[in-house]
Amino acid sequence: MGSGVIRAPSVSRFGTKVMSAGASTPPESVMSGARKIVVLGAGNVGGTLAQRLAESDLAEEVVLIDIIEGLPQGKALDIQESAPILGFSTRVSGSTSLDALAGADIVVETAGLARKPGMSRSDLLTKNAEILRGHALAVRKHAPEAIVLIVTNPVDVMTFWFREVSGLPPGRVFGESGTLDTARFRTFVAQALHVAPRDVTGFVLGTHGDTMVPLLSLTSVSGVPLTQLLKADQLAAIVERTKKGGGEIVELLKMGSAFYAPSAAQAELVRAVVLDERRLVPVTAHLEGEFGLKGLCIGVPAILGRSGIVRVVPVDLSPSERTAFDASAQAVRADLAVLAALPRAA
Ligand code: 2OP
Repeated sequence: MGSGVIRAPSVSRFGTKVMSAGASTPPESVMSGARKIVVLGAGNVGGTLAQRLAESDLAEEVVLIDIIEGLPQGKALDIQESAPILGFSTRVSGSTSLDALAGADIVVETAGLARKPGMSRSDLLTKNAEILRGHALAVRKHAPEAIVLIVTNPVDVMTFWFREVSGLPPGRVFGESGTLDTARFRTFVAQALHVAPRDVTGFVLGTHGDTMVPLLSLTSVSGVPLTQLLKADQLAAIVERTKKGGGEIVELLKMGSAFYAPSAAQAELVRAVVLDERRLVPVTAHLEGEFGLKGLCIGVPAILGRSGIVRVVPVDLSPSERTAFDASAQAVRADLAVLAALPRAA
């Protein structure tokens, strides 16, 4: 990266000129970018994401925000000081003030609590909803044109909540989960077959939780259907491991949860928006009749581009996949009911 050639500036949807450097970029190409990406929450996920975004030179500026004084500033400075070695131009800064959201083109919400011993799922929901309410109102005030990627768990419910409180159009608020779950699924398939992970494609739909739905019918290795490559019992084991993928990391780490694969998934989604890639990816999207559902956010295939979710892409589900998807939607609706009593305004 360090020997990258400075490219000609280009004007992006975000009304900015971005200079791109990087050996992986063909010399004749011109990369457009965002002016400002804000990452809310400077924990392991937020910090690693800020690093990935800065290193890929997708924006002029990456800002980390957290309530813990010194944490966002310290991580931002540490990332910034790697720029001379890695060759990126992104300016990285940290702040404890939500005013630093001002003018953000993209906001990634990673703030919130993880479940601790003795804490119910409802406790987590309520506490994280309180945190996200403040952030949603701040985005409405300081960055009303932003596209927002939600990471905070339970992500399907938090995506719905953030959208509702912020009042942003549904297509501009979406959640990560499916891309992460699918990356885990692809990893396990690649390991079972001893093939390159990137050659495995597929979709995991539904909630980011026990009721997620890996779609075997839409999974292939370079186009070869998975069902021709693995036996039913092997597939069943991979599906089960994928469903418990987040928990497997939590158990191994003993403190905290995953952040390398989650931040990679988030960076991929941010990139799709910034570069208007129109990727067909599994994301948590607001449904307005697609898949026969409305009034909730859940993981579905969608096309992602500069305006956020361009459109949800309904796919045919087998009867068993449909049953599993409906159970997933029921789980989301049960969680949404917990939020009904909470105030939306400040
Ligand atoms: C994960 O699945 C915690 O949602 C995060 O790793």
